[in-house]
Amino acid sequence: MNNIEHIKTLARRIITDLKPFQSAREEFIAEDRKMILLDANENPNETEFNRYPDPMQLNLKTCISEIKEVSINQIFLSNGSDEVFSQLIQVFCEPRKDNVIILPPTFGMYKICATINGIAVKEVPLNLNFGLNIEKIIKTKDLNSKMIFVPSPNNPTGNCFSLNDIELILNNFDGLVVLDEAYVEFSKNNSFLPRLNKFMNLIVTQTFSKAQGMAGARLGMTFAHPEIIKLLNKLKTPYNINSLTQQAIINRLTQQVKVENEVKILLIEKDRLSLNFKKIKYIKKVFPSNANFILIRVDDSTKRYKELLKRGIVVRNTSNQLGCKNTLRISVGTKKENNALINALSDMDN
Ligand SMILES: Cc1ncc(COP(=O)(O)O)c(C=O)c1O
Repeated sequence: MNNIEHIKTLARRIITDLKPFQSAREEFIAEDRKMILLDANENPNETEFNRYPDPMQLNLKTCISEIKEVSINQIFLSNGSDEVFSQLIQVFCEPRKDNVIILPPTFGMYKICATINGIAVKEVPLNLNFGLNIEKIIKTKDLNSKMIFVPSPNNPTGNCFSLNDIELILNNFDGLVVLDEAYVEFSKNNSFLPRLNKFMNLIVTQTFSKAQGMAGARLGMTFAHPEIIKLLNKLKTPYNINSLTQQAIINRLTQQVKVENEVKILLIEKDRLSLNFKKIKYIKKVFPSNANFILIRVDDSTKRYKELLKRGIVVRNTSNQLGCKNTLRISVGTKKENNALINALSDMDN
């Protein structure tokens, strides 16, 4: 769907009609002069953090726009990607009327965000090799399907969806496609971001929590048409990204060569783990992964999960996810951590 006027009609009236909170500081943001700030009831004594942060995060967005090659008005920042999933639902989905589509096995937060906002969830399972079932998606959507969540690489399975399939969904869905690229830096497939301007109904989310190594700072990036970004800006709280996070992320953005190196090492470690997993008898299957984790199928996931816990290693038991019976999802750690994992797994009875 490639008509931005149509996309604007998808938003809830309550949001399009909303007059958002305006901080006085946003009105003189373009001025260079040093101003005396008596507008926000802060304590004027310098503590490094006595002032509210920049509500529009302009310095940070400038750095991101250069690296990601998108304009500043195509960027929205949130408290991790988790937050924006809820915010998107609040902008576009009318409680007790609209629905969103998810593709299990999938990342758990989409359903939680929809449910706490009173939005129905339609589930279209992935096919047996965890690929997209496009026909079923097209059959399942109805006039109230506002959004479909597509994580690629997918969590917990680790595989990517083909760019062709993603394009098919974009072209055959009248609502918004939220393409969650949380693990894109680890993937052999390219990001969809360079095609942002081609699809008005595309929303790409990325995060600083994974490859960027900043999970504790909580910063999610959303890239979309400026009209969609405007709607998200209406809904956000005024000072949603704190000063510490803004500064820490700007610093990390100057270290992208280091990040690339870390990713390279993690990918080598991932291959090493896969090879070692394949030597262990009770590991029945090692699923191919384009992320920084590996899904494995074992003889009894609860038993193996507990055995690993006893040996001081925490992994994720994903057995209760659709099509994932007896699976464990294991993050790639440091070389030392991975050695400990291989030793623990090899030490357990076959
Ligand atoms: C697919 C996917 N999307 C989003 C997130 C959450 O990212 P953030 O830490 O930015 O909230 C995760 C976290 O595990 C994830 O696996």
